[in-house]
Amino acid sequence: MVNGDTQKRVLITGCSSGFGLLTAVEAAKAGFDCIATMRNMTKADYLRGALKQADAGATIERLDVTDAESARELVAKYAPIDILVNNAGILIMGSALDITEEEMRRIFETNYFGAVRLTRAVAGQMIEAGGGLIINVASLAGLVGHPFNAAYAATKHALIGFSRSLRLELRPFNIDVVSVEPGYHRTEIIRANANLTENFYDKQSPTFEYNRGFLKLMLDEIVPRAADADRVAKKIVEIMQAEKRKPHYVIGKDAKWLTIAKWLGLTRYIEDRIYKYLLRATRRENRRAQAKKEARGRKTEDRA
Ligand SMILES: NC(=O)c1ccc[n+]([C@@H]2O[C@H](COP(=O)([O-])OP(=O)(O)OC[C@H]3O[C@@H](n4cnc5c(N)ncnc54)[C@H](OP(=O)(O)O)[C@@H]3O)[C@@H](O)[C@H]2O)c1
Repeated sequence: MVNGDTQKRVLITGCSSGFGLLTAVEAAKAGFDCIATMRNMTKADYLRGALKQADAGATIERLDVTDAESARELVAKYAPIDILVNNAGILIMGSALDITEEEMRRIFETNYFGAVRLTRAVAGQMIEAGGGLIINVASLAGLVGHPFNAAYAATKHALIGFSRSLRLELRPFNIDVVSVEPGYHRTEIIRANANLTENFYDKQSPTFEYNRGFLKLMLDEIVPRAADADRVAKKIVEIMQAEKRKPHYVIGKDAKWLTIAKWLGLTRYIEDRIYKYLLRATRRENRRAQAKKEARGRKTEDRA
């Protein structure tokens, strides 16, 4: 234990839902002194309810990872923090041609700079305490390309690059840095928190039809197959408890399958399959939109 004989203290970002909420409950159940943070405290009742149901306790604090000042203050308030879980993340879907620079920067501010900010805030106290652990929640999208999510994928590639580099820099101080790379799991990021770019439905865009096709593919084929988010939370807590850790953990069948295919040099094959599915979904959506347009036309004629 880094904190002498006391409970290890873990600070987790983005605990209002999904992996963050579940990890906070799992960590509290496992006996960690859990500081569960979220940017919007009006959502805290979901976590409170889940903790109550699990008969576990955690401290809930407000933290927006884009706010450097409050990140520093919170980290100082709870020093020494033994474990940091950089989990907060957002998704803004849409083609790389349509997404605005402001939207791209917004994703980076949370998914990449948010994690960097918190890491730098805790590193000093971990060095002073003689060690620590930083777990960065990256994604399958940080390992392979993710069409219509290029900005999101770029943040996760960046986060993985940051984690892999930082591991060696912090090794002399007994601080372990690992990244977890889950595939699709059922959380709010692929439901209520799945944002679309403001130009997503811009019919002037050359990628308009493909945006729409990709969304259909997501809703019909990817989201229904997403795995249970509990597994990711359990794995993160397992990593917290492990004596020896791997540099990174690929979680979920889809992520494992794609990683193995990549190792085998099958990237082109994967791309061809994704492209085929995308074209199929786009054609289906085009036919549906055309039928809708024709039905509207018939209604107008009937009325005339
Ligand atoms: N679910 C998946 O399939 C999947 C796969 C791979 C990786 N991931 C990653 O897993 C992490 C957790 O996402 P999730 O899947 O659990 O989705 P989620 O249910 O949408 O949770 C995302 C969490 O991040 C919080 N958040 C967003 N912006 C924030 C900010 N500026 N400051 C603090 N918190 C912020 C959200 O808070 P609000 O409620 O206020 O928005 C929410 O608590 C993300 O990094 C995501 O990229 C998810």
